[in-house]
Parts: sequence; C-alpha cells; structure tokens
Amino acid sequence: EPQLVKRLEEAIESIPDFPKDGILFRDITPIFLNPDLYEDIIGEFVNFSRGKIDAVCGIESRGYLFGIAIAVALKVPFVLIRKAGKLPPPFVAESYDLEYGSAEIEMRTGQIKAGQRILIHDDLLATGGTTEAAAKLVEKQGATVSQFSFLIGLKDLQGENRLKDFNAEIFSIIEY
Ligand code: PRP
Ligand code: MG
Repeated sequence: EPQLVKRLEEAIESIPDFPKDGILFRDITPIFLNPDLYEDIIGEFVNFSRGKIDAVCGIESRGYLFGIAIAVALKVPFVLIRKAGKLPPPFVAESYDLEYGSAEIEMRTGQIKAGQRILIHDDLLATGGTTEAAAKLVEKQGATVSQFSFLIGLKDLQGENRLKDFNAEIFSIIEY
C-alpha cells in the first residue's frame, strides 16, 4: 500500500556510518511511538499471510516486534528462534556466516510440527544469511517454509537470492 510506504519512509530514520563506516542504518524505533502506524503495519502483514500459514517463526530480537502481533491476529502459534545459548534443550540449531566469523540460531524441538506451513518473519532482509538459517531450521523439522515477510528489504544486498530455493513467497513492506 503506497500510503503506508510513505508513512514508513517518514518514520524510519536513516543514520549514516552506524554501526560502522559506510553503513546506512535504518532505525525502526520511531514506529513504536505511533500505535496507528504500528497497527497498519500489522494489518499489511496479516493480509499477506491470512489463510496461508499454520505458524509464525520470528527471529530474535527485532523479528519479535511484529511477529507476535501477526501470529496473534491470525490465531496461529508464534515460535521463537533465538540466538545461541538462550534456549534450554532440546533444541535444533543452525549456524550461518557473518562478515567476521559465524553465528548460530536455535529453536525448541517440537514447537513446529512436520507438515506445517510456516511464515518466517524478521524486521529486515539484508544479506539473507539469518533468514536462510531460519528456513533451514524449519525444514530440518519437516515443516514447509511457505512465506517470508520483512518490514524492510535492502535490494542491493540481494538477500532474496539466498531464499529462492525454498520456493516461498517473499514480501517486504518497504524496500531501499
Ligand atoms: C539484523 C536484522 C536481521 C538481520 C538481517 O539482526 O534484525 O535479523 O540482522 O541481516 P542478514 O539478512 O544480513 O542476515 P541483528 O543480528 O543485528 O540482531 P537484532 O535483531 O537482535 O537487533
Ligand atoms: Mg535481527
């Protein structure tokens, strides 16, 4: 919805050279000062996913900000994907590469079920490394990644290329 994109452009602050030189940081925190805007964002995500998913997997931490509200509105379970070391066993884990080194994300075993249609949600699609690892976690458990949704997609980083193999719908409300 073009009107919503415009309101988002106004709300999201762009900060040059944060957290390091050359990076243009998109700060979403002003969105949460505006309940009407927040509600309309959730509405947009809900329209995209209605009738198409059995559970939402949200990625720590900013993936929780909208993910839980989407799940509640659709009356489906919300499953937390957490960074390594936060969840008690049993859990499944998947590692992914960072610019320097690697990171790991985890999900409690059994919270998604084989055959379920899953929405993977996060605030931002950048390189796609985090989301790709999340999708592998879902498939490891016999569930299907049906959709990906993001508030922001960074086109230049071509994160969508890393998600193609999952044959899922991809939706970003705003792209830069
Ligand atoms: C950011 C963002 C996405 C991820 C995108 O999270 O919220 O989760 O990076 O990057 P990628 O597409 O290149 O993998 P971050 O790890 O900074 O943590 P946070 O959500 O806890 O702030
Ligand atoms: Mg994140």
